[in-house]
Amino acid sequence: MKLFLIGATGRTGQEVVQQALARDHHVTAFVRSPENIRLKNERLTVLKGNAMDENELFRAMQNHDAVISTLGPREVFKPSSMLYDSALATTRAMNRSGVKRLVVLSAAAHFPGILNRIASFIMRNHMRDSLAMEAIVQASGLDWTIARPPRLTQEGYTTYRSREDAAPRMGFSLSRKAVAAFMLDAIEQRKHFHKIVGIAK
Ligand SMILES: NC(=O)c1ccc[n+]([C@@H]2O[C@H](COP(=O)([O-])OP(=O)(O)OC[C@H]3O[C@@H](n4cnc5c(N)ncnc54)[C@H](OP(=O)(O)O)[C@@H]3O)[C@@H](O)[C@H]2O)c1
Repeated sequence: MKLFLIGATGRTGQEVVQQALARDHHVTAFVRSPENIRLKNERLTVLKGNAMDENELFRAMQNHDAVISTLGPREVFKPSSMLYDSALATTRAMNRSGVKRLVVLSAAAHFPGILNRIASFIMRNHMRDSLAMEAIVQASGLDWTIARPPRLTQEGYTTYRSREDAAPRMGFSLSRKAVAAFMLDAIEQRKHFHKIVGIAK
């Protein structure tokens, strides 16, 4: 498949790139700093662009099978509308270009529960933006899936538990490698259309 990735320079994004290439997909990494992608592969195209610019996204995403976003704020405590702005631009560009499949990364802190409420309060600026992003994705008319993992780690496993509309029981962390595996599985296996999916170790 031909995958269009936003957030490829991030820790989860890098895992998506590596695993997608290992699964024989073609990847277009749409990034603001191409110099931060050192990986070379004949099936990897790196494009410099603004993830908040609908027209740039529209031009770049032509003829792709799916869009994955692993965007996240570099400073989680600062007020930002980056996720919302990018979701708006991305979903509009997708609707214009006919690319229907979208898988985005969100956070388990949006699920109910006292620990999630505490995490949401501590990171309220980021969580507000993330929830606004989810609303845009849900209203987009696209074939979307929203992945909500708990705390992300740099561990080496790629397995995960998943549950639609709820967090897996007693799942307090997940490796970024497993998040990437989930996002690619959802696309390849055409699973979790129009679903918020809790994923965890
Ligand atoms: N950390 C956790 O424990 C945790 C838990 C649950 C959910 N999540 C979610 O997972 C997501 C990704 O996490 P991560 O650790 O992989 O993130 P990360 O390593 O911080 O990567 C963030 C990515 O977003 C890009 N980005 C940030 N601001 C941008 C902007 N204004 N324009 C364009 N690109 C921008 C970065 O690009 P540059 O390289 O150019 O900066 C980078 O590619 C976050 O949204 C977070 O909510 C995280």
